[in-house]
Amino acid sequence: MTIREKFEAAGQGGVFRFFDSLDDGAKNALLGQLEQVDLDELGSLLKELVFKTAPAEAGIDFSKLSPAPFKPLPADKASDPEWAEAKKIGEDAIRSGRLAAFVVAGGQGTRLGFNAPKGLYKVSPVKQKSLFQIFAEKILSAQRKYGVSIPWLVMTSHINDAATRAFFEENAFFGLGKNDVIFFKQGLMPAVDANGKIILEQKGKIAMTPDGHGGCLRGMCRSGAAEELKKRGIDCISYFQVDNPLVNIIDPYFLGFHIKSGSEMSSKMIPKAYALEKVGHFCELGGKMRVVEYSDLPKEYQERLDKNGQLEFRAGSVAIHILDRAFVERLGGSGDGAKLPFHRADKKIPCVDADGNQTKPEKPNGIKFEMFVFDALPMAKNPVIIEGARGDEFSPVKNAEGVDSPLTCKNDQKKQAARWLKAAGENVPTSPDGAPEIDLEISPLFASNEEDFVAKWRALENKPEIKNGLYLE
Ligand code: UD1
Repeated sequence: MTIREKFEAAGQGGVFRFFDSLDDGAKNALLGQLEQVDLDELGSLLKELVFKTAPAEAGIDFSKLSPAPFKPLPADKASDPEWAEAKKIGEDAIRSGRLAAFVVAGGQGTRLGFNAPKGLYKVSPVKQKSLFQIFAEKILSAQRKYGVSIPWLVMTSHINDAATRAFFEENAFFGLGKNDVIFFKQGLMPAVDANGKIILEQKGKIAMTPDGHGGCLRGMCRSGAAEELKKRGIDCISYFQVDNPLVNIIDPYFLGFHIKSGSEMSSKMIPKAYALEKVGHFCELGGKMRVVEYSDLPKEYQERLDKNGQLEFRAGSVAIHILDRAFVERLGGSGDGAKLPFHRADKKIPCVDADGNQTKPEKPNGIKFEMFVFDALPMAKNPVIIEGARGDEFSPVKNAEGVDSPLTCKNDQKKQAARWLKAAGENVPTSPDGAPEIDLEISPLFASNEEDFVAKWRALENKPEIKNGLYLE
């Protein structure tokens, strides 16, 4: 069968409606695009998510949902025997080169009003470093500390791949070895209209959208990145999102718990700041861990208190995980094993009208299909969830103003710097919420965690004056 026949047989012949008017180059480009579409997969998604004729995954029976267990953060990690043991296991694994870092950066900064890859967004309080620079320096600092190469996987999408790579080149990879950064592009899915027909974005181009951060599992396998990690002897992958400069990327405690438990996927939780905070919730259902999004968990559950007066479902997901490489290969490879489910999102998708003129819809006209990485959790053996401290782990930049904005994120970075200085015995004037009155910035190249900061600061012979604009590197 020709491609055209295959599409016609699948009820998708509409993508050829302007085909005969295209020149040869455009015809070939369209055919090349269509070759990437998995019509069988699309057919099942249409039945399940658009026409709803196939039984979708049974909805969650919330009455059977309980909060997921987690390892609570002790008052002092270093002196707690279980955490100290985990740290030792984690550090040994890092030193022996078993860990890679991995950022999912397929999204744009649209919600921020920033029309570029989000990793280029400048967030640090004194030096205005970009998100990518901060992550790179965290990885570089760990490489120096442990005397080992820690490769960094960067997942881009077709929207931002070229701009992301160019930014790394322009900045000489922020001091990392070129060989230490492995880019790969996530996959694409065709977007369809309400009748399940693939949308034509232009006469000779179908609308394809990124397959969600869960697409990283198959993206890592298809691109060869997983194979590359295997060659380098890496079996643990530290996963994080591009929007959170506070992320503790190389965390030996977290890695130690993951390894000690023989876990295939481990996660970090942070107690929610307030009942309706827009984060996923770590829950347990039928003996399996899972994340239930804030948009799916009924409000009464989000607000419910336990007998100690704490939020019962307080374990917020900050989208920080450790993935076992073989687990990624199992779920993301071409084998018959379990795969991540797709979710449907209704979006405004640029398209052509009946005459082939391009139009920008004002309300959602199309459906895109996405996978979420946290849907892998119920499929993982021995998953572990550990608690993290918000001030040292999580302050994402998502919105232009208000919560999770550039302003709150800068403040949280300054608060962290002030807290570390205070822990080292310095006096830093702060407001009651811990925010210093001056701008401060600690480069990850100086220290990436409080323990290391205190030791390094105390060892400084000539300590700089703590004043507005202080930058430590
Ligand atoms: C996400 C999580 C939420 C979590 C919160 C923590 C989902 C559905 N929800 O929300 O559980 O509590 O973060 O901050 O994920 N990305 C890609 N490719 C894609 C789509 C996204 O790489 O196709 C990347 C983005 O670049 C970003 C990350 O995934 O790094 C998160 O995406 P985003 O859509 O911003 O998630 P949130 O709704 O903020």
